[in-house]
Amino acid sequence: MGSSSLIFCLIGVVIPLWKSPGFSAASRINVALSGTAIQSSTYSNLGKAEHAIDGNSDPEWEHYSCSSTSYEAKPWWRLELPGVYRVSEIQVTNRNAKRKRLNSVEIFIGNSLVNNSNDNPRCAIINDDPGCLTQTVKCWGMAGRFINFYKSFDVADALTFCEVKVYGEPAAPSMSIQKMGRNITLVGTRLCWSDALLYCRDSHWDLLSLIGPEDQEMIDELVARATFPLTSQLWVGLRRSPSGSSWFWMSGDPMNFTRWDEGSHHSSLCGGTSSRKPSTWRQLSCEEHLNFICFTGLTEGVKKLHFYSSTRENQIHCT
Ligand SMILES: *[C@@H]1O[C@H](CO)[C@@H](O)[C@H](O)[C@H]1NC(C)=O
Ligand SMILES: *[C@@H]1O[C@H](CO)[C@@H](O)[C@H](O)[C@H]1NC(C)=O
Ligand SMILES: *[C@@H]1O[C@H](CO)[C@@H](O)[C@H](O)[C@H]1NC(C)=O
Repeated sequence: MGSSSLIFCLIGVVIPLWKSPGFSAASRINVALSGTAIQSSTYSNLGKAEHAIDGNSDPEWEHYSCSSTSYEAKPWWRLELPGVYRVSEIQVTNRNAKRKRLNSVEIFIGNSLVNNSNDNPRCAIINDDPGCLTQTVKCWGMAGRFINFYKSFDVADALTFCEVKVYGEPAAPSMSIQKMGRNITLVGTRLCWSDALLYCRDSHWDLLSLIGPEDQEMIDELVARATFPLTSQLWVGLRRSPSGSSWFWMSGDPMNFTRWDEGSHHSSLCGGTSSRKPSTWRQLSCEEHLNFICFTGLTEGVKKLHFYSSTRENQIHCT
């Protein structure tokens, strides 16, 4: 994955969470075309699941170009991608703009097949306005191999699509370890500091904060186990306030432990940790493209904040 595909490399600006612009695929390649589709049942043997990814979105062709399940309770349609992708956007074309057939269809993205993939994180619930033929749903880089469309109603209905287009890019290689209640992931792609922050906030919780010496030692362990090449410095959530000399962690953790490299001058706004043992911190130019470390909590019940689904109005567009 080329870093050029990411849209924002803001310098010296901390982006508020609610403005997280997410990711856009550089090349608008519809990756659904290289996937495979299955559905809960098939209407009259005609509306085959793969018709929704045949590149023909014309509703005139009906069952010859649109997928359709039989009339049944809780129908679903699922796309399996050729690998794990970070999905930026999904376009769904309805069969009939007058009937709100896609209303309340839920979209799940992830790697699990449990409960027909409906246990994966949800990107959106389609709010099908009348007159809307194609809906665009933003998923802001949610990662997964399976994309499931599900209508949870008990009332028998057909789930039908004339086309489903998926824009995204293959997910970067990564390596995770679990330490002290946190799941810590070293990411194989190289980004500037602000893109790394967005990446972590989209797919994990945040850029890593190092709260104590054990965390610093854990960096050495993580680096030793990486199966992909690393830059000599790694981004973590270290940031300096533009007005002063105080550094803070983006996650809001207290900075009661520091491991600055001797001779590191604090003239830049972004900080990283070295990938050479024993690792120390450096202030670095925010535009440098480096590997980086994200974290999530391990505790059940503590849920990631889904920044991308906070306002549905911004998320789903009708064309
Ligand atoms: C399956 O997923 C749906 C949608 O997320 C949920 O409402 C339902 O409770 C799940 N069923 C089971 C058996 O977990
Ligand atoms: C840790 O995070 C990685 C990357 O998001 C994920 O694949 C893995 O399942 C997580 N492990 C645990 C124990 O939560
Ligand atoms: C820093 O503060 C946190 C939370 O207050 C605490 O859990 C941690 O042990 C402290 N670390 C050190 C090195 O004092």
